[in-house]
Amino acid sequence: IKSGWDEYGISYGMPSQHIVIRRLTCVSPTSAVIALGSEMSGGIRDVRAEDITALNSESGIRIKTAVGRGAYVKDVFVRRMNLNTMKWVFWMTGSYKSHPDDKYDPNAIPMVDGISYSEVVAYNVTMAGRLEGIPSAPFTGICVSNVTVQLAKSMKTPWYCADVEGVSSGVTPAACASLADQGAAAAPCPFPTDASPMDGFQLQQCTYIKSYDA
Ligand SMILES: *[C@@H]1O[C@H](CO)[C@@H](O)[C@H](O)[C@H]1NC(C)=O
Ligand SMILES: *[C@@H]1O[C@H](CO)[C@@H](O)[C@H](O)[C@H]1NC(C)=O
Repeated sequence: IKSGWDEYGISYGMPSQHIVIRRLTCVSPTSAVIALGSEMSGGIRDVRAEDITALNSESGIRIKTAVGRGAYVKDVFVRRMNLNTMKWVFWMTGSYKSHPDDKYDPNAIPMVDGISYSEVVAYNVTMAGRLEGIPSAPFTGICVSNVTVQLAKSMKTPWYCADVEGVSSGVTPAACASLADQGAAAAPCPFPTDASPMDGFQLQQCTYIKSYDA
């Protein structure tokens, strides 16, 4: 999910929003099952993903951004993922240093806020979470609940977090201290109960005939 790159995305200014992802089955050995960014300079908001099955992928859900992007990634809700064999279940990167040119605004600091992950089971994983925000603008409102990650043999560092803030509950192995543990009985992370503007959307039927040259 993208929405434009640095100063060009900021000037175009159109968010990617009201995105619904359901019943996705995915194999993605060199990338994420669901990735947001790194080009997100028009903003990304109201993303709802559920019932995701994936195997042999690099990461489960990834958020990428960098100083110079501006805008935001917010109100992202993911629940019911069943994953097998990956490096990172949850991966966030605030220093994704790639820019279209040197005209980007170093004061355009992106905001990442309101990210909820729940009901996740993952097997044969290198790290449960690698969450790296931006030192001057930590990622906030991160919630992880009811997540069980079975690490691959010999993996001993389940989580790494820097410049992120939030809460966790019912997470095994326990999440980083910066995702303050609310106890297993805490309310789960939120998932919207209102209808998405995309509910009831019908794709147009169309026909495509491909012809081949010899
Ligand atoms: C926790 O997640 C599992 C599946 O990952 C689900 O079966 C169970 O109902 C969830 N528990 C709660 C309290 O939501
Ligand atoms: C576990 O993951 C490794 C790669 O990290 C893979 O080679 C192996 O086949 C996986 N094992 C199972 C049981 O899926």
